[in-house]
Amino acid sequence: MNDARDCPVSTSSAAALAHAEQALWRTVAFYGDTLADLDAAIAADPGWGLARIAKADFLLTLTEPALLPEARALLDAAAPLMAHANARERGHFGAARLGAAGRWREAGDRWDELLLQHPRDLLALNSAHLFDFYRGDASSLRARIARVLPEWPADDPLRPFVLGMHAFGLEECNLYAPAEAAGRSALAICPRMPWAIHAVAHVMEMQGRHVEGVQFLRALQPDWADDNGLSVHLGWHLALFHLESLDTASALQLHDAQMAGAASVVNLQWLDSAALLWRLQLLGVDVGVRWQRLAQDWAEPVEHAGHYAFNDCHALLALIGCGDIARAEALLAAATARAGIDGPESTQRLVDSRADPRADNHAMAREVGLPLMRALLAHASGDHATAVRLLYPLRRVAHHFGGSHAQRDLIDQTLLAAACAAPQRDIKTIGHALLNERRLAKPGTPLTAHWAARLGLRENVGS
Ligand SMILES: [Fe+2]
Repeated sequence: MNDARDCPVSTSSAAALAHAEQALWRTVAFYGDTLADLDAAIAADPGWGLARIAKADFLLTLTEPALLPEARALLDAAAPLMAHANARERGHFGAARLGAAGRWREAGDRWDELLLQHPRDLLALNSAHLFDFYRGDASSLRARIARVLPEWPADDPLRPFVLGMHAFGLEECNLYAPAEAAGRSALAICPRMPWAIHAVAHVMEMQGRHVEGVQFLRALQPDWADDNGLSVHLGWHLALFHLESLDTASALQLHDAQMAGAASVVNLQWLDSAALLWRLQLLGVDVGVRWQRLAQDWAEPVEHAGHYAFNDCHALLALIGCGDIARAEALLAAATARAGIDGPESTQRLVDSRADPRADNHAMAREVGLPLMRALLAHASGDHATAVRLLYPLRRVAHHFGGSHAQRDLIDQTLLAAACAAPQRDIKTIGHALLNERRLAKPGTPLTAHWAARLGLRENVGS
């Protein structure tokens, strides 16, 4: 059989394929319970390895250390089924194996091989797109989608989701006008496309269109806020727009209503909460017991350190925020050991992918994650000059540990706050230079004016 996009599948169960199709839609739309559909596909045809691989892919793309054992068990169960699989499915198995070993770039290469043969293999495309994001590979975020998009017929119901991916890739390549056009063309077909909504929100964030951004996300809120895996992240984007106008009360309200407590259950969601609380604190807002609550929710950050540096840095924010510096130091030490810094002994004790020097996280942690953590700890200790001296050179390479431009703006905002607090003249000069960048990107916003005033400079507020 082939699936709805002419990709060959080895199952002969129409029910299994129908469940897998539903799961694929949920995966790209973020609505509902994807895992339940994948479990139903596995139950309908236990001999179909691709259903297990698709579930492993979904778990791996959450970058959640606690889910790695389950993902690996699924792949172990799929291994003997590969004898009856087709070439495409065996390709997926190889890619997922690499993903489970933390070798994300190599996994992306395998998915790319599949896409050359099957340009509408959405499972490969979506998995590769998300790992391009986690690796900060903006070029591939755009180009990988561009290589296949013309092969998708206009009437394919899932094509708008691919347009949304293209929109996000264009935005991360700073191609704002075509990014917004692609995102809006997807939304014109169907507004229930949170990834396309997200791409347009990113364009507005990067261009300082915060008033329009609030209106845009509020108008589409019914399409992203309920029963959707992106609701926390889009709530974070909405809060950022409020922060740009220094409306910290609305940002806090959104945090509590949309991002905290039961709304957040995985690293990708806790980190949005940490990033927002950190920005609020940099602006002098007392966020109360929210740090303590977040640190309580965050599952074993020290034990899980070393899987993904981007997540580790945000876990560090939560520990610093609630004043647990000892645990923050322990997190840094664990992340350092698991990046192989202390030599082979410390990594050989580990039995999982964190010991594999080919895992992408080793380079991410060494180049970005660990120095960023040291800088954040320096800032927390009041050593603002050291924080600035560590953070400033990181800006050039920070994209290597993934996330979006908007997420990594946390580094710039920390730099600005540290530069404001440091007494040294050369540190102030760095703050002034950073402010100049901000003035061109987001001229006249209240947040830009705030940093200007803190640095003793003037800024005309336009909105
Ligand atoms: Fe985002």
